[in-house]
Amino acid sequence: MSKNFSSAVESRRSIYGIDAEIKISPERVAEIVKHSVKHAPSAFNSQTARALVLSGDHHKKLWEATKEILRAMVPAANFAPTEAKINSFRAGAGTVLFFEEQTKIAELQEKFPTYADRFPLWSLQSSGMAQFVVWTALEDEGLGASLQHYSPLVDEFVQTEWKIPGEWKLLSQLVFGNPIAAPAEKIFAPIDERVIVFV
Ligand SMILES: Cc1cc2nc3c(=O)[nH]c(=O)nc-3n(C[C@H](O)[C@H](O)[C@H](O)COP(=O)(O)O)c2cc1C
Repeated sequence: MSKNFSSAVESRRSIYGIDAEIKISPERVAEIVKHSVKHAPSAFNSQTARALVLSGDHHKKLWEATKEILRAMVPAANFAPTEAKINSFRAGAGTVLFFEEQTKIAELQEKFPTYADRFPLWSLQSSGMAQFVVWTALEDEGLGASLQHYSPLVDEFVQTEWKIPGEWKLLSQLVFGNPIAAPAEKIFAPIDERVIVFV
């Protein structure tokens, strides 16, 4: 980690202007994702987070397929902005797809019936933690990334193309690349209205 934790948290932004010229190898990206997913916390240490890391042509294939799926749905006259958006993701170096393993969740529901209705919620919360760690860690290595949601539109394509187990439920796609444009200014709500403190 090149920065301290709080400055890495502050530096993580949604970066939409990216190209494929990243300064680290796809192997290093994979190492960061594995480390992040391994150490992110999960309810009951269930470790339900799963990830698929796509680089290069695999990444392009994902966004070409997403574009064609959307083209079949969006009226041709309105398609240009959608196409431009998808092309901006395709221009990146890779995508990390986040899933949650559903069998494990069902097992926990059976084992701990008192919490049965909580496990799907905790699974999403655990996934959010894993997604945040990966996003922050990639940006800490000089990459730019944004979080996208094209599920369930792309679920079948992803599952078939990369032979993903049926029990993995796709939640989100983190697109990353070399940052070529600064993020938009971020407006913050007053923090003292959001955090109540008693000391
Ligand atoms: C749960 C969640 C879902 C999000 N979904 C999307 C999305 O579908 N597309 C997108 O461009 N950004 C998405 N974002 C990014 C937010 O819009 C962004 O984090 C927020 O505006 C703050 O900006 P920042 O990331 O630069 O700090 C999502 C973020 C979170 C935490």
